[in-house]
Amino acid sequence: MAVLELCHVSYEYKKDQKILDDLQEMFERGKIYVILGPSGCGKTTALSLLGGLDVPKQGAVLFEGEDIQKKGLEYHRRSNISFVFQNYNLIDYMTPEENVKLTTRKDAILFLEKVGLTREECRRNVQMLSGGQQQRVAIARALASDNPVILADEPTGNLDEDTAMEIMALFREAAKAYQKCVIIVSHSGEVAKQADTVLVLRQGKLKREN
Ligand SMILES: Nc1ncnc2c1ncn2[C@@H]1O[C@H](COP(=O)(O)OP(=O)(O)OP(=O)(O)O)[C@@H](O)[C@H]1O
Ligand SMILES: [Mg+2]
Repeated sequence: MAVLELCHVSYEYKKDQKILDDLQEMFERGKIYVILGPSGCGKTTALSLLGGLDVPKQGAVLFEGEDIQKKGLEYHRRSNISFVFQNYNLIDYMTPEENVKLTTRKDAILFLEKVGLTREECRRNVQMLSGGQQQRVAIARALASDNPVILADEPTGNLDEDTAMEIMALFREAAKAYQKCVIIVSHSGEVAKQADTVLVLRQGKLKREN
């Protein structure tokens, strides 16, 4: 069964300039979806609707079959979604351990070690970590949370290719070992190769590639 669903979703910032035109797609747990498409086509907009940061002009986003507006967008963001961004979005005056502890009562260090940080790195200020390490912290935070969906907007956009593939391996683990539904927006064909399903957004339409 789909955990998240776009149900005839349309969106426009300006009247009669449709960015998203009647999107219809189902997203399942245990899978990685990569959304590709040219700059400005509406990928970030689509992700923000899936995450309950904004609402469709027409149609609805469903979580486990129910319109997310029913329980409220704040509830959806807090209980269903983990966000991972290009710029990591960690709380930068805290350590990785403290950042992960914000979302869970579980053992934060355990999750941080799982994504490859040393104990010493877990207790350093996050500003003293590389971009790749900061993104590992963001993924550890998502793994530690019980929220079933990870939405990632160009999570490897600032990273070199080898580091990007290491981050993708962690997303694969999130999908396969933790049964998360992972939806990634990217410009990278290499990232798309790691997907179970590749979607392309072009001229307002979302289409499956495989
Ligand atoms: N708040 C806004 N007000 C008006 N127009 C906006 C707003 N946010 C985005 N847009 C426009 O909507 C379109 C889609 O933007 P969006 O950020 O979703 O694209 P994107 O596919 O994520 O692009 P990129 O790959 O460059 O990140 C663009 O033309 C953008 O200029
Ligand atoms: Mg974008």
